[in-house]
Amino acid sequence: MTRVYIKDIGKYSGQEIILQGWLYNKSSKGKLAFLQLRDGTGVIQCVVFKGDVSEEVFKLAETLPQESSFAVAGIVKEDKRSKLGFEIGVKNISLIRLAKDYPISPKEHGTAFLMDHRHLWLRSSRQTAILKIRDEIIFAIREYFRNNDFTLVDSPILTPAASEGTSTLFETDYFGQKAYLSQSGQLYGEAAAMALGKIYCFGPTFRAEKSKTRRHLTEFWMVEPEVAFNDLNDNMDLAEDFICYLVRQVLKNRRAELAVLERDISKLECARKPFPRITYTEAIEILNKKGNPTQWGGDIGGDEETLISREFDRPVIINRYPAAIKAFYMKRDPQDPKLALAMDVIGPEGYGEIIGGSVREEDYETLLARIKEQNLPVEAFDWYLDLRKYGGVPHAGFGMGIERFIAWICGVPHLRETIPFPRLMDRLKP
Ligand code: 4AD
Ligand code: MG
Repeated sequence: MTRVYIKDIGKYSGQEIILQGWLYNKSSKGKLAFLQLRDGTGVIQCVVFKGDVSEEVFKLAETLPQESSFAVAGIVKEDKRSKLGFEIGVKNISLIRLAKDYPISPKEHGTAFLMDHRHLWLRSSRQTAILKIRDEIIFAIREYFRNNDFTLVDSPILTPAASEGTSTLFETDYFGQKAYLSQSGQLYGEAAAMALGKIYCFGPTFRAEKSKTRRHLTEFWMVEPEVAFNDLNDNMDLAEDFICYLVRQVLKNRRAELAVLERDISKLECARKPFPRITYTEAIEILNKKGNPTQWGGDIGGDEETLISREFDRPVIINRYPAAIKAFYMKRDPQDPKLALAMDVIGPEGYGEIIGGSVREEDYETLLARIKEQNLPVEAFDWYLDLRKYGGVPHAGFGMGIERFIAWICGVPHLRETIPFPRLMDRLKP
């Protein structure tokens, strides 16, 4: 007898096979017991008829607790009524391990309870669908960059200085010296772009966000392309093309998972080129017209992003922000030095900022002055300044927080469901 996975079951119609997995759900009626077996590739109904099995096996089928692990031997039968199209006519069941009092039942649980049991919550069909979509997106990210001649260059996690402001740094002791968990791989990505032209880095990044919002994790994964000789328009084109590719791949390969999540596919299908591009100044005008009081120079926060996103059916790119509210490394707009050549991509339906990026300052003196102005430690950035000393060129890049992107694709409102083991201000376990 062959051991098979549920996803391949159609190839074994009429044959006797073995499946291994966990009990997802069960019911029984007279001489029949119905076991829903899940094995990570799918869920299938195993039908146990009292006349076909020994007395012990039937008793086991009737009493097996949820999430017990077991193997089942049986015949693959076509079943037009089921979603899968097949069920198993059980001949034998062997118990692997009994699960006693599984804490998560099909009834509703509160979020705190589910988060405390995240290690078990992952087994639910909703969570496995999200995990598969996350995997699809990560695969597509790497594929996109490979197809477009980018080289992956990993950036370090332990770093000597801040790149995205000092207020969200996680500090740690590094043999008597202060070190910080990376907030972004960008500065290292810039060095790599001067070596390889088109690069990306992709890894975990950390922000000691002291706010509890649905859009902030303290540990999240960021993918950051950086391209030598790109300007702001090139950077926006790249972000747009990248997002469209990822959405297409998920729509092509993960329809079943999107259906489990009851995601309205039409909302993803309209994410096509071109994305509307508006300046920060125009964004403020939209906000004011809608009664939001944000003044020119103020931050566009989560609520503002939601208001702006409602104006469009696809992601919108806001560009040219006030330099004063943006990072030290951003190049100023030569047309108007009050502005930074920055861009944010705001997701539709209120999913907020999914990408942040900019053109980088390539002039040595200007950058040095900027570092001093912002009271950043010049010694920590000497190597970064070297990139401008030795053949510096215009360049641009961006970072996408993949959990924000996954949240939008899956239609889940809170980032905590988009990463296997979320790290939040008040959560370090499991
Ligand atoms: O806009 P941010 O801070 O930009 C940077 O870090 C640049 N150095 C990136 C670059 O140009 N290479 O962050 C980039 C993205 C945001 O748009 C958002 O998607 C995500 O990272 N992000 C977070 N995601 C989850 N939790 C948080 N606390 C996040 N902070 C930022
Ligand atoms: Mg940002």
